[in-house]
Amino acid sequence: METRFLTLVREKPDLSFIKEAAEILRNGGLVAFPTETVYGLGADALNPEAVKKVFAVKGRPSDNPLIVHIADWHQLIDLADEVPEKGQKLAKEFWPGPLTLVVKKTFLVPDVVTAGLDTVAIRMPDHPVALALIEEFDGGIVGPSANRSGLPSPTSANHVKEDLGGRIEMILNAGPSEIGIESTVVDVTVDPPVILRLGGLYKESLEDIVGTVELPADEQILRRSPGTRYRHYAPRARVVLVDQGDTHALAGALQEFRQEGKAVGCIVHSRHLAKLESGDFFRVLPAPIDFFARYLYRTFRELDQEGVEIILVEKVLEEGLGAAVMDRLRRAALPTGKES
Ligand code: TXA
Ligand code: MG
Repeated sequence: METRFLTLVREKPDLSFIKEAAEILRNGGLVAFPTETVYGLGADALNPEAVKKVFAVKGRPSDNPLIVHIADWHQLIDLADEVPEKGQKLAKEFWPGPLTLVVKKTFLVPDVVTAGLDTVAIRMPDHPVALALIEEFDGGIVGPSANRSGLPSPTSANHVKEDLGGRIEMILNAGPSEIGIESTVVDVTVDPPVILRLGGLYKESLEDIVGTVELPADEQILRRSPGTRYRHYAPRARVVLVDQGDTHALAGALQEFRQEGKAVGCIVHSRHLAKLESGDFFRVLPAPIDFFARYLYRTFRELDQEGVEIILVEKVLEEGLGAAVMDRLRRAALPTGKES
């Protein structure tokens, strides 16, 4: 299949392109689209055949449910059976934005979308192109990250092309994703609400609006959000984490792996470790943490392309967006056996 690659202006998307994309969705095809977090792989959420293609193209296990993207409040009615008060408050505050709500689903939402669960994850992305596409299509669009399952999410249209080129009908390019890390997934069917995946919106911001929000230990999340089960968000290279600011640890690891004849990459952010800069595969992503988050997946992909076998990554401070970044780094560093 030939994948059409169309470039749009973020603030003023070309309506004729949006119309073509919506037509593909109506015909059960797949269109990758930009969001503020990462690029998504769009399909008609109410068309089970189209949704099955999404799983096939991504190589995604069928027990991992998808997020449905909406552009308008009235679209919720078809999808959500009930949105509890705290869910409504969060949506009012943070939509459009990097917040995904898990709510009870209606009978209209096909089982393939939710992997058989009686809940559905819904989000309103904060991106003019995504919103225009959903509005033009006039219905919910599933949107898992538009990467091959297990690899880092795509933060540019070219990443989508690398992973899915030739396998989907269209890619809408609107430049790099601003946030660079996925949305925060919150289960609001329970009280207090529970974070199932940390992401672009922090726990602290959620709590400002609805009070206590739980962040369960990994093992518990596992049972409730299947997507968090595997080595994930990971480059092909092995990822090894190094303590923040620990020049000794970084220098030691670098030397050790190089002695083994390995091509080693580094991703650091503190000034301390940046001083150790050596070789072509050394990347500095300086503070603030937003910057680190925005460029992390891109840097993983670049180092993979350079043929690096090991990537040493400096841990970040686990607060605000740093909590989500550390979550991704830990998953990326899981042994390959646990890959999806
Ligand atoms: O930022 C994002 O959320 C991006 C952009 C494209 O919107 N999308 C994204 O989708 O990251 P995906 O499919 O890669 O991740 C969806 C996550 C998975 O961890 C999945 O297990 C969880 O949401 N999820 C989806 N439906 C769920 C449900 N009903 N209950 C619990 N977890 C659910
Ligand atoms: Mg994903």
